[in-house]
Amino acid sequence: MKNIDEGYNNIAEIYDKLNNNPEKFYSVIRSNIERFKSDVRRVLEIACGTGNIIGRMKNVYECYGLDVSTEMIKIAKQKFNSIQFSVQDMRDFSYKKKFDVIFCVFDSINHLLKMTDWMKFFDSVRKNLVNKGLFIFDANTPYKFETFKDSKVEEIESEDKCFKIKKEPGKNNEAYWHIRIFSKSGKKGHELRNEIIREKSFDVDVISRKLKNYFELLEVKDFDRNVLDKNSKRVLFVCRKI
Ligand SMILES: C[S@@+](CC[C@H](N)C(=O)[O-])C[C@H]1O[C@@H](n2cnc3c(N)ncnc32)[C@H](O)[C@@H]1O
Repeated sequence: MKNIDEGYNNIAEIYDKLNNNPEKFYSVIRSNIERFKSDVRRVLEIACGTGNIIGRMKNVYECYGLDVSTEMIKIAKQKFNSIQFSVQDMRDFSYKKKFDVIFCVFDSINHLLKMTDWMKFFDSVRKNLVNKGLFIFDANTPYKFETFKDSKVEEIESEDKCFKIKKEPGKNNEAYWHIRIFSKSGKKGHELRNEIIREKSFDVDVISRKLKNYFELLEVKDFDRNVLDKNSKRVLFVCRKI
């Protein structure tokens, strides 16, 4: 199994065609910041990818972004030169300054495949927040991964490559994104690379219990609908450092 940074390095050039609704993530995060914290100055997005969400906040807060993929960060820097981006692992990151808000969205946390890694991440977030700082993140649910059994192949093209992506449920609340990358020039249909991006999910109760070791849990809700229930696919956690 390849490293996660390698997987994203190889799809960075088409990434912006994959997260086709950054505006929705931005508005959910922004409204929760406004609801739960006044006087917000410094904000950090963890696993910020190509910067589409933190980029929308650049005129509002002092913005920072980190990601483990050098290629994703390279694109983020080209798009938003006023934001301070760095390549770091979310399980163990550090800054000289502390943040009023740290957030992490579009199921980036699910890329951590062990609960011990989720806890290292929570611990790092806590250390980098001011007292009473906000931590907001979303996570895909085990139910969402089950629904991948019916998914179709999605095709996305860049200038010189074609990417074929197929989602598949795995065992033990895991899911796989199989990504096959083909050349559009030269030998027709030549397969250049084959990537697998893995995600892992946990039950909402398990996540909530672990979080309470690090934060006060302010809200746990369905990201897309009014009710959090067994059919929820994405859950939003809003926490405060105590
Ligand atoms: C689904 S993308 C989300 C990107 C961005 N938040 C967005 O909404 O467009 C997941 C991101 O998590 C990053 N990532 C995965 N594991 C990571 C880790 N251990 N530390 C930091 N970033 C990580 C990947 O490189 C990728 O950019």
